[in-house]
Amino acid sequence: MKLNRIFLAVAMCYGTILAPQGGLAFANAAPGDQPWMNSRLAPGERAELAVRAMTLDEKLKLVYGYLGADMDYKKSTRPAESRLQSAGFIYGVPRLGIPHLWETDAGLGVASQAGPDTRPGTALPSGMNTAATWDLKLAQDGGAMIGAEARAFGFNVMLAGGVNLVREPRNGRNFEYGGEDPLLAGKIVGAQIRGIQSNRVISTLKHFALNDQESGRTTLDVKIGDQAARTSDLLALQIAAEEGNPGAVMCSYNRLNGVYACENSYLLTEVLKQDWGFKGWVMSDWGALHSTIPAANAGLDQQSGMPFDLADYFGPPLKEAVLNGWVPQARLDDMARRVLHAMFEHGVVDHPVKPAPETIDRKAHAAVSLKDAQEGMVLLKNAAGLLPLVKSARRIAVIGGYADKGVLAGGGSSLVSADGGNAVPGLGPKAWPGPITYYPSAPLKAIQRRVPSATVAFHDGGDVAAAARLARESDVVLVFANQWTAEAYDAPSLTLPDKQDELIAAVAAANPKTVVVLQTGGAVTMPWLSQVPAVLEAWYPGTSGGEAIASVLFGEINPSGHLPVTFPASESQLPRPVLDGYPEVQDRRFDVDYHEGAAVGYKWFDLKGQQALFPFGHGLSYSEFTLSGLAATVRDGILHASFTVKNVGKLAGKEVAQVYVAPLGVRWEAPKRLAGFQKVDVKPGASARGEVTVDPRLLATYDSASKTWQVAAGDYKVILAADAAGSQAVSQVVHLESAIYDVKGKRLR
Ligand code: BGC
Repeated sequence: MKLNRIFLAVAMCYGTILAPQGGLAFANAAPGDQPWMNSRLAPGERAELAVRAMTLDEKLKLVYGYLGADMDYKKSTRPAESRLQSAGFIYGVPRLGIPHLWETDAGLGVASQAGPDTRPGTALPSGMNTAATWDLKLAQDGGAMIGAEARAFGFNVMLAGGVNLVREPRNGRNFEYGGEDPLLAGKIVGAQIRGIQSNRVISTLKHFALNDQESGRTTLDVKIGDQAARTSDLLALQIAAEEGNPGAVMCSYNRLNGVYACENSYLLTEVLKQDWGFKGWVMSDWGALHSTIPAANAGLDQQSGMPFDLADYFGPPLKEAVLNGWVPQARLDDMARRVLHAMFEHGVVDHPVKPAPETIDRKAHAAVSLKDAQEGMVLLKNAAGLLPLVKSARRIAVIGGYADKGVLAGGGSSLVSADGGNAVPGLGPKAWPGPITYYPSAPLKAIQRRVPSATVAFHDGGDVAAAARLARESDVVLVFANQWTAEAYDAPSLTLPDKQDELIAAVAAANPKTVVVLQTGGAVTMPWLSQVPAVLEAWYPGTSGGEAIASVLFGEINPSGHLPVTFPASESQLPRPVLDGYPEVQDRRFDVDYHEGAAVGYKWFDLKGQQALFPFGHGLSYSEFTLSGLAATVRDGILHASFTVKNVGKLAGKEVAQVYVAPLGVRWEAPKRLAGFQKVDVKPGASARGEVTVDPRLLATYDSASKTWQVAAGDYKVILAADAAGSQAVSQVVHLESAIYDVKGKRLR
């Protein structure tokens, strides 16, 4: 106690910052010749002082990144100071007390580059799953957990914060992102970034911008106008940036309206730095850089992952460009200043990471992942109350999906190596992003544990007739169906691969008491849906996935996940029934015309009057809820909506109240937009009051010429509902006066 007080006194004298996990950490004292080490100065001042002390070569070092792994086919070896099998490394300036940057992927946990000696970590469920929780606290807790692991493994930058809007349901990376709605995705991913950075670890926000499909990602040219982009993909990124304050942004592979994202001054300088006021740095995606002068002058601050790019554009060529004035010295200073700003702001200078791995509380971290999975699983259908399973069932059949071995993970740079090894080796592509990984958390075992006196029989589903025979002889059937998706590839269609539709149909025909458990990257079609009473969407459920699935099936956890994406009935309902550039032809350049503009996902379905298989926002519970008492008011021009959620079922549970707004006069890109949401926990028989305050940008039309968000005077319908198709909907009309907000959403008049 006494000691603590002395520490505190000393700490106060030296401007010490409280370390996030409770201990006291001392900022470096600020010797007179290193004034930027004074942690009491603002990050901007510190960055400026440090840049002034740096030589040209030191600044250049700070803007040039290496891959932290050997690349045999390029005959390159990683810098000795980098962390093994890591995504990135940048030399700091030790002479000035500026540490190196050690970068690790990604948004689901500490991932490793493929190869030997990968570091098994705790994997969160997919980003899609976290979005399906509609729970910002959970998203932040997940971020805090993976950020702590990043720090424990010696990293101070986490390449997380993926928030590409799910515009294309076949996109192979949708599982990493936050769904199709800019508000939900932006809030969830922003919360995750906040959690990561609470560990004094910088997080990125990525991929900037509109890299919404993987086929041809490095050659395709996205066509979309400023207004539509600012109301969709850019809005998701903007909200995530505001919520999470990421230290860095990663520009993407694709071109936008003819110009590569990493040399696109509209994206990097105009939108991100000028309009949004972003103070950190922009790093290129690995292999996304194509030039020196255009990229540097357009606003790129750092080349990443060499030797991924064809040339060392930000190495000697950048020095030559600066010495000749082709890239102004002031621009190079700005590049270095931005990197330093983030390092000072987020504590990576004052709280250096340690090289040796620190102990990780794997049990506690697995519990964080478990909770996320449990809260994000979506009960899509549950006819006749087949779920939760009754513990009195005598004969349970578990079929398919490697449910005897583990749970599926998405592939690519975000893949966290399985703690305990890949439960099903040898599947999928031999080279990256393969092989397919299963985390060794077998649903079968978790099910057996819950019903020790029942016969739980497993069939791998390979022989459909034999699987159907087992189904016929069982009281209840759990059929697992999986869709592996991965970076660099898109799903060819929304059909479950490997004839799993046939397996499900045959099993359901043999036994009507069939529950389908899906592990998919996102939406899939379900030709067997009418034959099957219950469907649980388990996404990619992470490290503790088997346990999470069993706990929901048996009702220990009341499901409360809601879809962050629309599940289409068929591809013909999509803006692009056939994916552009698929199948991929190496190096072919092609356009992807986002003609739907900002009418993404449910907005497109609304606009076209189409009925989804399952709408955005949908999710059942073992309890039942009613929505009522909507009271929408406008105070000082800001729309508030309060409401009552009543649990009219028999179990405690959570409902996601969704507030949509539909303009009655003016036209938006679609009939309505999600304007707010709240996940409410209610005991059986009880009611809870909730309230949302609506961001005025969600009620406005963006005007490109004046760079303002303009709310038109008129009537607007405020709709409280349990999904985008209007289940349980109650509504109220409010009148809004005209109002104008700046590009960041600040009231002008
Ligand atoms: C991905 C990024 C990732 C980077 C480093 C790229 O292929 O697009 O998301 O952070 O690799 O591994």
